[in-house]
Formats: sequence, structure tokens, C-alpha cells
Amino acid sequence: MAFSREGFTADVVAGFVRRTFLNRNVIIILALSQAVSYINGYPLTAFPVFRFVHLFPLRALNIWILLGIYTHVTSYLNDQFANNWTKDTYKWNKEIVLITGGASGIGAALTSLLLKRNPSTKIVIIDHSPLTFKPPPGSAVYYYQGDLSNSSIIRQLCERIRNEVGHPTVLVNNAGLVRGTTVMEGSYADVEITIKTNLIAPFLLTKEFLPDMVRRNHGHIVSMGSMSAVTPPARIADYAATKAGLIALTEVLWRYKQKTMLDAGRGLMRAYRHYSSN
Ligand SMILES: *[C@@H]1O[C@H](CO)[C@@H](O)[C@H](O)[C@H]1NC(C)=O
Ligand SMILES: *[C@@H]1O[C@H](CO)[C@@H](O)[C@H](O)[C@H]1NC(C)=O
Repeated sequence: MAFSREGFTADVVAGFVRRTFLNRNVIIILALSQAVSYINGYPLTAFPVFRFVHLFPLRALNIWILLGIYTHVTSYLNDQFANNWTKDTYKWNKEIVLITGGASGIGAALTSLLLKRNPSTKIVIIDHSPLTFKPPPGSAVYYYQGDLSNSSIIRQLCERIRNEVGHPTVLVNNAGLVRGTTVMEGSYADVEITIKTNLIAPFLLTKEFLPDMVRRNHGHIVSMGSMSAVTPPARIADYAATKAGLIALTEVLWRYKQKTMLDAGRGLMRAYRHYSSN
């Protein structure tokens, strides 16, 4: 029995708790009844449905309600902040998803998941090696062979993709290669091809496709990370450095969006100081 695609993880438990105990409607009913009982002095348990509440001490009940409110408010604020208080919905039959290194591995798995969700999603794959899978009949999978360590090839491919398929609305920087040599043993070429493919290509692809996403206020950029960015093992120092670089790129793209989040935070602080001093 499969609990979720990833198997049994903490998320399965958290998801269950959110859908049941912290369910929005449950929390609203509990909070309203608590409020009514506070205001009218009317005990909550006067309602037969709430007899079960006897099982919990009052403090536990209040913590439960506060936890529910906290969960829903933070998840609402997170969503809003992440989207700069605009609504960006994805119509998966219209999106164009560009996945680098999508011919095999994680990129190919992602392609198959996206097509399972919506078979009309356009998927553009750039990879050095040929596709290792057969796209399902009727699906719109476009394959472009190309070496992502070569910036003139990147420029040409992006031009072709815009003309032949359209502007990607989702960019997944997934392609990555590992030479597995030590800093002392690796050749110039080992270091160069790793950093160009894993780090420079994502920068160039972002430069190519981000402006149109901003113009249309719709888009998503994902870069594949790695634990090695945080704890780099020996023999893959160059790879780990590219993954740390991708984190920096992502942070900067985020900060640009988050400026408004900081402004909102400062506004709240100002309002708080204003009211607490008056
Ligand atoms: C990059 O690609 C171009 C052709 O698109 C080719 O002329 C050039 O030699 C390539 N550069 C390298 C370093 O392979
Ligand atoms: C976020 O929204 C504000 C107000 O609508 C706008 O001025 C700002 O440019 C937006 N920021 C981004 C990154 O789109």
C-alpha cells in the first residue's frame, strides 16, 4: 500500500493532521463555539456534538484552536508572499515546461509526472544525450539536442525554442554533471565543463526566459539542488560549488520578490509601534 508517491514520510502524518484535526472547518466551528461560550457564558459542551471536548482540558482545546488558526494564517501568508499578493494559477494544458537534462533520470521522471497530471502540457527537453524514453503518443514533448556547456549553443537553442514552441512558463534547471575527480587531479576541462553546464547554463537560461515571465506576471524557475551544496564531499568540489551557486541565484531571485514582503513586515511593525505607543 502506498501512502504517497514518496512512501511513508512525516509529510503523510502532517497531511493527515492538517486534513482532520486542523481542518479549517473544524477549527472554525471550535473557535466559534469557544467564542460563544466565552461571551454568553454558555458552555461549549451544551451542544451534544461537542461532548467529546470533555476529553480535553480547556487549555489543550485553546492550544488546538490557536494551532489551527496559526497553521491556516501562515499558510495563507506564505502563499501570498510567494506570489507578491497576486494570483498566479497554472493551466497545465497551456504551460510550456523547459527541463534541462530531461532525457533521463530526474528530468525524465519529472516529465512523466507532468504528463500524468496533464497530457497536453508542452514539455521542452534540452539534453546532450538522446531521450531514454518514448514520449506517450499524442503528448507534446519537444526534444532539443545540445551541449549546455556552450553558450552560443544555448543562445541558438533558446531562439529556436521561442520560435518553434513558445516562451517557457516553467524553467527547470535540472541538467548537472559530475566528473568525480579531486581538485588536484581534475583537468582544466573537467572543472570548466562542470561549472559551465551546472551553473553558467542556468544563469543564461534564466536571463533568456525570466524577462517574459516577469512581463506576463506568470512563471516559475526551479533549480535542482543538492546536499553537497551544504556538506561538500571530496572529489566533487566543483559540482558542490555549482550547487551552492544555484542556491545563491535562487536566493537573489527570491529576494527581488521578497522586497514587498519585507515592506509588509516593516509596515506591520510600524503599525504595532504606533498603537502600542498611543
Ligand atoms: C560551441 O558551438 C559552436 C556552434 O554552435 C561551435 O562553433 C563552437 O566550436 C562550440 N564551442 C566549443 C567550445 O565547443
Ligand atoms: C509586487 O507588487 C507590487 C505592487 O503591486 C509591484 O509594485 C511590484 O513590482 C511587484 N513585484 C514584483 C517582483 O513583481
